[in-house]
Amino acid sequence: PDYQVIVLAAGQGRRMNAGKNKQLIEIGGQTLIEHTLQVFENDDWCDSIYVVIHPNEQKLMGDLIGKQFSKVKKIVNGGDERQDSVREGLLSLEQKLVTFVHDGARPFVTEDELHELYEQTIKHGAAFLGVPVTDTIKQIKDGKVQTLNRSELVAAQTPQAFTYDWLKKAHDYAYEHKIYATDDVALLEYLGHSPAFVHGKLSNFKITNPEDIQKAENMLKINRLDYK
Ligand code: CTP
Ligand code: MG
Repeated sequence: PDYQVIVLAAGQGRRMNAGKNKQLIEIGGQTLIEHTLQVFENDDWCDSIYVVIHPNEQKLMGDLIGKQFSKVKKIVNGGDERQDSVREGLLSLEQKLVTFVHDGARPFVTEDELHELYEQTIKHGAAFLGVPVTDTIKQIKDGKVQTLNRSELVAAQTPQAFTYDWLKKAHDYAYEHKIYATDDVALLEYLGHSPAFVHGKLSNFKITNPEDIQKAENMLKINRLDYK
């Protein structure tokens, strides 16, 4: 098996409120983006990594990750919205392998999750990680509240994985029709394709708010204990 991954790090981390891109925050002595890249560097099934960064951080990111990771093929500039950043990553790919799209802000994805995603993508064309929601989700529209059926709802995570052709077609269609979605598998709907759902773990949370830093520090400690 062989896949390539687009790792997104071009956001601003506004909700983190750290005065810098959250990808550069250190947890356990290493930056968030380094932790995330290390997972793919370590996974034998991963062939190559494309990192999408903020144009203002070219030098910083180049120094930090340019040499350290042998699988990093390119570091490219992202765009205003997450979807624009994915597109920049996609346009820079050198091979037509199964392609993963991953948030740089999710450092705790595991190899078993990555391999299951790959297998499901070979079978179904696309796959995504997610977890069933535990809160009851309400939809509020024009002041009217509707309760959604919790047993049918999952919270989507990344990575999301695609055959190269499906990812390219989905993004080209969205670009052409100016469609924006908050994740990449959503774009498949316009092609009439459906991704496979892979039941992931809560540990693959996205580092988003200041509270998540302590949670991440704790996760690192737990992982270290596990490996002993
Ligand atoms: N991202 C990106 N390009 C953008 C926006 C987001 O590459 N224009 C990346 C982020 O760096 C992050 C991932 O997409 O790894 C998920 O986005 P999110 O968690 O929202 O990160 P930020 O946009 O940086 O944070 P915020 O929304 O709080 O500003
Ligand atoms: Mg964002």
